[in-house]
Amino acid sequence: MMEAGRRTLAAFAAMKAAREPVACLTAYDATFARAMDAAGVDLVLVGDSLGMVVQGRRTTIPVSTRDVAYHCRCVARAVERAMVAADLPFLSCPTPSQALVAARRLMQAGAQIVKLEAGADAPRIIAALCDHGVPVCAHVGLKPQSVHKIGGLHRQGEDAASAEALVRQAEACVAHGADLVLVEYVPPDLGRRLARALAVPVIGIGAGRDCDGQILVMHDVLGVNPQAPKFAQDFLREAGSVAGAFAAYVGAVKARDFPPAAGA
Ligand code: KIV
Repeated sequence: MMEAGRRTLAAFAAMKAAREPVACLTAYDATFARAMDAAGVDLVLVGDSLGMVVQGRRTTIPVSTRDVAYHCRCVARAVERAMVAADLPFLSCPTPSQALVAARRLMQAGAQIVKLEAGADAPRIIAALCDHGVPVCAHVGLKPQSVHKIGGLHRQGEDAASAEALVRQAEACVAHGADLVLVEYVPPDLGRRLARALAVPVIGIGAGRDCDGQILVMHDVLGVNPQAPKFAQDFLREAGSVAGAFAAYVGAVKARDFPPAAGA
């Protein structure tokens, strides 16, 4: 088991090699971020999900770089051990130069890696960020910023052709320098395929237990989001406290007990 010390990309690569899952959660403020850091969470993501769970919006689309930077500063002040990641919001990086401006804002707010929802231009945007020393997590599968294009928050990669396209897209992102891949809401066998195919750690959400790590939205782990997706799990009910819920989540991810096996 990986011991104390700041989580780095090298640490995550070593965890993948050792088959130790990376436990990740979203956070938006200092108090919860501190509690999850103390519970052993490896990566804290300031996700644009903040639009829905903090701001009460219907989608992540209205979230701005300024919003993410604000919450990132709050989180980064409290976290000592976990890596801090921050989302590049909807259309904040349509070109490499705009991506650099947005990434500067998030990195100066305390992010150690930025995450972007990968579109057709993702490889060249990732290459530009990497050239400037910005670590990148490429988000594939269900991309909530595309909700209106895809007509809802549906599972992706269900048929052979779309699964193949998704793998090719993730491979292109890694070939252009992505350091992590996050895959959201795909069949478990596709999550497993990505983790095996890619040299970098693959963090799953609703993507089966065979990814190299797991992430959930904090509010879903605490059972306070009435719109939680069906792949989420309330860890607070059994644990009885916030700190206990975070520790139970980390323990379940590390033991590969979360998510439950398909059909369990
Ligand atoms: O914005 C977010 O919180 C995310 C998670 C769903 C992974 O991207």
